[in-house]
Amino acid sequence: MRFTPGWLRDPLLDDATFDGRMPDLLRLASRLFWTPVAVARRMGSLFALHGAQRVLDVGSGPGKACLVAAAAAPAIRFVGVEQRSGLVAIAQGLAASAALGNVEFRCADATRTSLDSFDGAYLFNPFAENLFSEAKRFDHSVELSERRAIGDLLQMEGSLARARPAWLSPTTASGAASATTTTQSTLRPRAPTFCASGARPIALQGAVDTSSRWRNGSSPRW
Ligand SMILES: C[S@@+](CC[C@H](N)C(=O)[O-])C[C@H]1O[C@@H](n2cnc3c(N)ncnc32)[C@H](O)[C@@H]1O
Repeated sequence: MRFTPGWLRDPLLDDATFDGRMPDLLRLASRLFWTPVAVARRMGSLFALHGAQRVLDVGSGPGKACLVAAAAAPAIRFVGVEQRSGLVAIAQGLAASAALGNVEFRCADATRTSLDSFDGAYLFNPFAENLFSEAKRFDHSVELSERRAIGDLLQMEGSLARARPAWLSPTTASGAASATTTTQSTLRPRAPTFCASGARPIALQGAVDTSSRWRNGSSPRW
C-alpha cells in the first residue's frame, strides 16, 4: 500500500483510515485492542500541555496510540514497548511511512522498562487480555494468564510508585488533571497525573481496582 508522508498529521484522519493501513487481523482487533484516534490525539495534547518530553506507552501494540500522539505532539518523544515482535515490526513500518522522527518502538516486557528516562506513561488496558476469554484473545504467541496479569500489574504499580518523586513538579499538578483525574484519584491521592486513561475502561484505574479485588480473593469477569 502507498503512503503519503504526513498522513498521520492529516486532521481528517479517523479510525477507519488508520486501521485500514494495518493488516486485516489488526484492523479487526482495533475496536477492542487499540486506542481510538481521538483519544490518542487528546493524550498527546495533554502530555504536551504538561510539558512532558518522553512518554512510554506500556504495551504499544501496532503503535496506534504512540503514532497518532506523536503526530499531535511533535515536541514529545514517544517510546512504545511491546511484547509481540510482529506488532513492533508493524509499528515501525507505520512510523517510517509517516516520516515521524519522534517515535520509536522496542520489543520487550514493558513492565520491566525503567521509568527513569521518562516523564510520562500511557496505559491502555495492557494487562486485560490476560483475563479475556479464549475467543477474545489476540493470539497465543505470549503467555496469557491471571497469574501473569497480577505479576505485571504489581510490577507496574511498583515502577509508578518509584517514579512518583521524580515526576512531581510544580507544573504537573493542574494541567492534565482534568482528563486524567480518574486514574489519578484511584491510583493514590494526589499522585502525578501522567497516566492518561483511554475512553474505554480500564487503563491503570481499572487495573488497580481489579488488583484489590484479587487480593480480596475474587476474580474479575470479562
Ligand atoms: C490493549 S493493547 C494497547 C495497544 C496500544 N497501547 C494502543 O493503545 O493502541 C495492549 C498491548 O499491550 C501488550 N502487552 C501486554 N502486556 C505487556 C507487557 N508486559 N510488555 C509488553 N507489552 C505488553 C499486548 O501485547 C498488547 O499489544
